[in-house]
Amino acid sequence: MTKGEMLYEGKAKKVYLTDNSDLYIVEYKDDATAFNGEKKGTITGKGQLNNAISTIFMEMLNAQGIPTHFVEKMNDNEQLVKKVEIVLLEVVVRNIAAGSLAKRLGLAEGTVLPKAVVEFYYKDDDLGDPLINDSHIEVLELATPEIVAKMAEYGRKINEILVDYLKARKVTLVDFKLEFGITPQGELILADEISPDTCRFWDADTNEKLDKDRFRRDMGNVEEAYQEMLRRLGGVEA
Ligand code: C5P
Repeated sequence: MTKGEMLYEGKAKKVYLTDNSDLYIVEYKDDATAFNGEKKGTITGKGQLNNAISTIFMEMLNAQGIPTHFVEKMNDNEQLVKKVEIVLLEVVVRNIAAGSLAKRLGLAEGTVLPKAVVEFYYKDDDLGDPLINDSHIEVLELATPEIVAKMAEYGRKINEILVDYLKARKVTLVDFKLEFGITPQGELILADEISPDTCRFWDADTNEKLDKDRFRRDMGNVEEAYQEMLRRLGGVEA
């Protein structure tokens, strides 16, 4: 596989063309940002850790029948993925109140929600990824109602799979963000990553945070938390 021109550079990843027009290479970076890019930093080893962690989750979801863009992990920082057009909607699924939900609804962090909440955010850095509803999505023509319904359904299904998988590894899944893409053949598949950058993971016994909140809140031991997550998932510590 030959790495071609860089197609896109995001906050945490770079995407490259390859000599196969159906495949992209994703390179995971050590850069970390929070609060829509207002807080910037580097987490040593984060690229390798998130590449390894996301590989484990994507392979597991593929095996459980969830279609994803993941093809294979190529090396420490790179993975091969299917080419998709990213839907400009972020799907957030929440089991426990934290972050922006706790703030918006005035709920104490840690409040267990009676059922999972699914939210859509408009993927637009200039606007700060605002929360949007079905009517907004329709008016902005971001996705058809069928695609939106399918994304919500996948979100709930993936949540069920991840909650059980993580519970067995002594991790509570608080919330997480998913992105989806559409293949050239028109199939909706899971894209992007599943990692401590995009999920809130709490130790099941102590509620210790094992995710990017440690960076957002300057709690220290960020790299150690990501390493601990990889260890619990059965991956080799970076
Ligand atoms: O900040 P908020 O509480 O809305 O985040 C909900 C979940 O979505 C968290 O797990 C967070 O890491 C993730 N998220 C993300 N990328 C964003 C916004 C949120 O991965 N742009």
